Amino acid sequence: MPNSKLSNAKKAKNDEFYTQYHDIEKEISAYIEYNPDVFRGKTVLLPCDDPEWSNFTKFFAQNFERFGLKKLISTSYAADSKNYKSSYQPTLFEKRDQKYDKNKTTKNGKIFTLTRDKTGDGKVDVNDLEWQYLIGDGDFRSSEIKKLCDESDIIITNPPFSLFRVFLAWIVEANKQFVIIGNKNCVTYKEVFPLIKKNKMWSGRTEWSGGLWFETKNPDDVDKIINGLNMKNVSSVWFTNIDHGRRHEHIPLMTISDNLKYSKHKEIKGKKMYEKYDNYDAIEVPFTDAIPSDYSGVMGVPITFLDKYSPEQFNILGATQRGCHDEVPDTKKYDDYWEVKQNGQKTGSSGGKTNENANLIGNDGKKNYFTNKDGRVIQSAYQRIFIKHKKKTT
Ligand SMILES: C[S@@+](CC[C@H](N)C(=O)[O-])C[C@H]1O[C@@H](n2cnc3c(N)ncnc32)[C@H](O)[C@@H]1O
Repeated sequence: MPNSKLSNAKKAKNDEFYTQYHDIEKEISAYIEYNPDVFRGKTVLLPCDDPEWSNFTKFFAQNFERFGLKKLISTSYAADSKNYKSSYQPTLFEKRDQKYDKNKTTKNGKIFTLTRDKTGDGKVDVNDLEWQYLIGDGDFRSSEIKKLCDESDIIITNPPFSLFRVFLAWIVEANKQFVIIGNKNCVTYKEVFPLIKKNKMWSGRTEWSGGLWFETKNPDDVDKIINGLNMKNVSSVWFTNIDHGRRHEHIPLMTISDNLKYSKHKEIKGKKMYEKYDNYDAIEVPFTDAIPSDYSGVMGVPITFLDKYSPEQFNILGATQRGCHDEVPDTKKYDDYWEVKQNGQKTGSSGGKTNENANLIGNDGKKNYFTNKDGRVIQSAYQRIFIKHKKKTT
């Protein structure tokens, strides 16, 4: 295997990305701000964690009293079961404890719980966490963790990137409230998009631009060293089914004619009208802030629209992903087209490749295009979500 492919394969399997304290604080504060009692009397489960040094465990333990939690449960995944093997050392905290077991330390997961003032210092905080080895390795799919999920009200974590879809299905099946981290591109997965469309899951509070910075355990895949820690930027965002204030703020918008006159985007300003797709009955809106306030039909917008989406302002009707646009059917197929590079060379791919993408007539001079025997030329836009204004516009 060539080196680059090998390192990509290694990266794909590396799930060891650790969330920063201030990112957790910023996100969770939005739920508290919207509903100060959101966690009151609740049992919160933090699975797929490493409680001895996880910022999730630290944050919720520190805020146990302020949030009015009933119980905090945090579980880790055994070092031997992890895809990415970094040199494992038990922490001093574990080694000095009489429960320490050198056979279990790498093979078993651990469970940390917080319910009471164990130390007797008059407050419940991180010093009151109690721990033991799990019977199994802490796999969230195990019956041991499933039982903990059943007894919990809210599941919060940054799940393994490689198992995001499985993890999401796991919490949805359990019918729990959740706050989790996932890659922004996952929104068009056919397992994810229907939840977003039905308002059963939405973006968290933290804005999508810039992604999130995680501490990484892989020294060969580092973007920046911050305060001595190896950090990696990932296009991750928060997803939840808990309400927050930003979800109820409307995006300020201009009319079609103002956009065409004043838009800051050269793709819009000066045009006669928004472009219509060749294969969907919808207009192309390449930027969320260019959504016209007075268009009553279907609009195709970038997936980053979800960062600003308010269910009181818009209905989500579908996405260009296969199987996700029953309400906005594609009206044309391109099996008799072929793909061409900008230098005129054929790529060898059939136009069938662009079926169900949002396609526009013409050639922007940048991307590959598709053409047919009549010389008709089309190009696909990026992934699009189809939306409509909620209220009838004037
Ligand atoms: C992206 S990291 C996040 C860790 C921690 N929640 C945080 O954000 O700081 C995901 C963690 O899940 C663990 N993991 C991988 N597969 C797992 C599984 N099947 N069950 C439970 N945990 C798993 C990984 O070893 C890793 O520690």
